[in-house]
Amino acid sequence: MAIYQGPPRPFRLISLVQPEPKHLLAALAVADLTDEEKGWFRRAQTDDGCFYFVVQRQERLIGQIVLHDIDRKEQEALIGYHVFRPEDRRQGYGSDALKAICDYAAGELHLRRLVVITSLDNLASRRIAIKADFREIGPAREGPQLVVYERLPGGKNEPA
Ligand SMILES: CC(C)(COP(=O)(O)OP(=O)(O)OC[C@H]1O[C@@H](n2cnc3c(N)ncnc32)[C@H](O)[C@@H]1OP(=O)(O)O)[C@@H](O)C(=O)NCCC(=O)NCCS
Repeated sequence: MAIYQGPPRPFRLISLVQPEPKHLLAALAVADLTDEEKGWFRRAQTDDGCFYFVVQRQERLIGQIVLHDIDRKEQEALIGYHVFRPEDRRQGYGSDALKAICDYAAGELHLRRLVVITSLDNLASRRIAIKADFREIGPAREGPQLVVYERLPGGKNEPA
């Protein structure tokens, strides 16, 4: 199943929860995200290589986080994340969501290598990857403005 359907999974400040489509689509409609970022929920409905969660803070929907390009044979996946409203950012929610999905990916899906690709100038995104024990491994194939982080079991997050 590519959309999370279990009970809420609390992690410190947030919970990972099952999407409620009506509320999610309303939040996505006004979020300052690209069309691709807004399309993760639809993509996850048909793509078994995605696993989509909503991020909630005290019953309020605040963001999304998704495992994508899941490779079960290699036990690896990429992660994308967004806190929808600027006023909800920089409060620790993104960090907790990323740590929570890493726990889920390792504990429930038995994925061993997790990857985040983000922009060099996206300091918040880079910071939450480091805080979730990812390690910077260098520029992405897609272009030098993108940087790749990976998280391995027991890994340390010092730069390569
Ligand atoms: C990236 C994102 C998910 C981070 O979530 P968040 O809830 O804002 O993150 P947190 O509050 O948990 O942590 C942000 C960290 O980055 C730091 N940070 C944020 N903006 C920063 C800036 N401009 N310069 C330096 N550090 C910055 C914060 O201080 C914090 O680090 P700290 O805990 O050590 O103080 C969120 O900002 C977001 O959705 N942004 C827009 C969409 C996006 O960029 N998505 C990622 C695409 S790969």
